[in-house]
Amino acid sequence: MKTEDVKLIDAKGIRLDGRKIDELRPIKIESGVLHRADGSCYLEWGGNKVFAAVYGPREAIPRHTQNPLRAIVNAKYNMAAFSVEDRKRPGPDRRSREISKVISEALEKVILTEQFPRSMIDVAIEVLDAEAGTRCAGLTAAGVALADAGIPMIDIPVGCAAGKIGGKVVLDLGKEEDNFGDADVPLGISPRTGEIILLQMDGHLTFDEFNTALDYAIEGCNKVSKLQKEALLRKYDTIKEGK
Ligand code: CDP
Repeated sequence: MKTEDVKLIDAKGIRLDGRKIDELRPIKIESGVLHRADGSCYLEWGGNKVFAAVYGPREAIPRHTQNPLRAIVNAKYNMAAFSVEDRKRPGPDRRSREISKVISEALEKVILTEQFPRSMIDVAIEVLDAEAGTRCAGLTAAGVALADAGIPMIDIPVGCAAGKIGGKVVLDLGKEEDNFGDADVPLGISPRTGEIILLQMDGHLTFDEFNTALDYAIEGCNKVSKLQKEALLRKYDTIKEGK
């Protein structure tokens, strides 16, 4: 099938899965789901299923990795072999190393790392089912898991992508939209300050399209941020009520 054969959006602006241009896929977030980790999160975002688990802060090992002034943040993004249509070869590859790096850097911008010199904070992100937008889903889940672990942060980081399909800028690309679309712009922000902590782009956009995509993605991030907070409050209420 050729890219131009796929009609991703109709004349009324309705997408393949029935969404409007500025509509998110359904999202479900649960915090504190893994009992061995210091903090954790399970997130479903459209067809994505992602776990995030936080360990630390603890003494950084090997010792030569220690920074005397602050903690180091090691996010590790991994896709399960069964998470995609063609079985993925297990283990790290270029893509997962790239995503681990951009998520680690995004988290370092919000965590108060200077409070934990010589320490490390590990964040494991495991993608069990992948359907486009997993780095944003991973960053969002990591944010909840870090808050659940009680790690001091200036804000709970959140991610959401926008992109372009069939000549239109849209929010939160799904699988076919990612495969056959024109551009994808994953964004991570610190919602309280609005600071951009992750920004990538795949494909081509004009300057105006890019600005629209950025506005959509920020709006998306703010909506997802509310769901993150609700998930954390739900766990807190459960503990308070002794359930
Ligand atoms: O997941 P995200 O959009 O952040 O990253 P991507 O590199 O743009 O990948 C888009 C999608 O392609 C993933 O979410 C998977 O659904 C799919 N993919 C795949 O099928 N096999 C891979 N080895 C990697 C990605």
